[in-house]
Amino acid sequence: IIKGVIFDLDGVIVSTDSLHYLAWKKIADKEGIYFDEEINHRLRGVSRIESLNILLEKANRVYTEEEKMRLADEKNNYYIELLKNLTPNDVLPGIIKVLKVLKEKGIKIAIGSSSKNAKVILERIGLLNSFDAISDGNDITRSKPFPDVFLVTAQKLWLKPEHCLVVEDAVAGIKAAKAAGMFAAAIGDAKKSVEADFILDSIEDLLRYV
Ligand code: G6P
Ligand code: MG
Repeated sequence: IIKGVIFDLDGVIVSTDSLHYLAWKKIADKEGIYFDEEINHRLRGVSRIESLNILLEKANRVYTEEEKMRLADEKNNYYIELLKNLTPNDVLPGIIKVLKVLKEKGIKIAIGSSSKNAKVILERIGLLNSFDAISDGNDITRSKPFPDVFLVTAQKLWLKPEHCLVVEDAVAGIKAAKAAGMFAAAIGDAKKSVEADFILDSIEDLLRYV
């Protein structure tokens, strides 16, 4: 029985995944490093610094820790600029309806994101006060595929993991949900995950499972 639904943010609630891509692409181009959509999928759900390490796999030299910090900061600055254009119109289709139905059913709703910008994003899209709990990159040190962010979220909701269902667009996020002992619903790129319990063709499909 599902008592709580934990939503990933980037790529599930709002398409910031494409903004992450644009910001990383700018860094890659400046550094002369090959980067494409396929590599970008691997950045879904993982932390900023881990994303950079994946991007640097294609670099033809070694970067120092200091250089990495600088590149990660530079990426985040581009990304924050892009976030300024977000409005409530950017909430993905179906989300508002799904959140409303879940609330009506008495199911708790939460955000479990690896992003340190999660609250800024939720504020911009008008959803900062819509959830029973928000956990993000500031609550954890190990990001997805580790289960930490979802376990912290379940605690904030006062729910056992087995009563939680996670909605994810990242393969790493599905792994994290399963490692947490939760149900996992895959949307978008995560549909290729073999570990997902449910595959969603659209977010409304979620309502079939709660
Ligand atoms: C989300 C995205 C990742 C991103 C991570 C950290 O999980 O899916 O692609 O790397 O957040 O985001 P941040 O906003 O802290 O750089
Ligand atoms: Mg995501």
